[in-house]
Amino acid sequence: MAGELEDRVSIVTGGGSGMGRSTALMFAREGAAVAIADVNDEGGEQTAAQIEDLGGNALYVHTDVSSEQDVVNVVAETAAKFGRLDSMVTAAGISYANYVEGDDDTDPFLHPEAASNLNRPTEFWQKVIDVNLTGVMLCAREAARQMVNEGHGGAIVNFASINAYNPSPILTDYSVSKAGVVMLTRCFAAEFGPRGIRVNAVAPGPIETPMLARVHRAGASGWGNVPLQRTADPDEVAEAVLFLTSDRSSYVTGKTLGVDGGISTV
Ligand SMILES: NC(=O)c1ccc[n+]([C@@H]2O[C@H](COP(=O)([O-])OP(=O)(O)OC[C@H]3O[C@@H](n4cnc5c(N)ncnc54)[C@H](O)[C@@H]3O)[C@@H](O)[C@H]2O)c1
Repeated sequence: MAGELEDRVSIVTGGGSGMGRSTALMFAREGAAVAIADVNDEGGEQTAAQIEDLGGNALYVHTDVSSEQDVVNVVAETAAKFGRLDSMVTAAGISYANYVEGDDDTDPFLHPEAASNLNRPTEFWQKVIDVNLTGVMLCAREAARQMVNEGHGGAIVNFASINAYNPSPILTDYSVSKAGVVMLTRCFAAEFGPRGIRVNAVAPGPIETPMLARVHRAGASGWGNVPLQRTADPDEVAEAVLFLTSDRSSYVTGKTLGVDGGISTV
């Protein structure tokens, strides 16, 4: 398909849902072949099928981003199937340790008292850091290795959050992981810039995905702290990811772009 990413190949982690799915579909509409990496097989296969329905090229690879072997595998499979790799989007993430399992008992929005730093088990902290920070590092690093081996540049776009800047005591592990993503993005941009690989991030505010649905369910209401006074559609973030991936941002690297209705401004 013709478009801004014509003949490009991308991997989108977390592409089975939410902003990862929006990004994967938008990239496909712009002409990219897209590999979806997720632990959610049903969602991942659905996204791949939606891309094929659009007339695009897609691949789904079951991938736990916190597993180095899985990450090596998805990059290798993508390059084998589509012949190259031009971009990596690291949208996979969890808001609490048992998020994928959907465990209500440990949901910090439903049980803020249990999410106190005084009470939370160390393994919960470790899980969130493993997926949200180490997972991003593994994916970005493996993509950079592939691009360097192929002898061309590329673009990596990581998912941070407004929680990288705004502390949330019930989401300490999440907030710290996202602050880490901001610095990881800067370090990788500094190292890989000379090789033509740009590394940026987006820091979304409240976006209407299954992740935010858990917050709604716990009774959060009103977005008075958002200058634009609303939540956003996942496509509004995908637009920013497309900008940071395409040649339109050819002189931008190391930056984290807030896509947050202005929350981080006030
Ligand atoms: N929704 C929001 O309001 C919001 C705000 C700021 C940042 N974010 C971040 O945006 C990103 C996308 O979140 P979303 O809102 O689209 O949520 P989502 O739950 O709709 O999508 C997250 C996807 O990540 C996948 N995933 C989770 N753990 C994984 C693992 N170990 N390996 C591979 N895949 C895994 C899930 O299966 C899911 O498909 C996340 O990094 C999240 O932290 C979301």
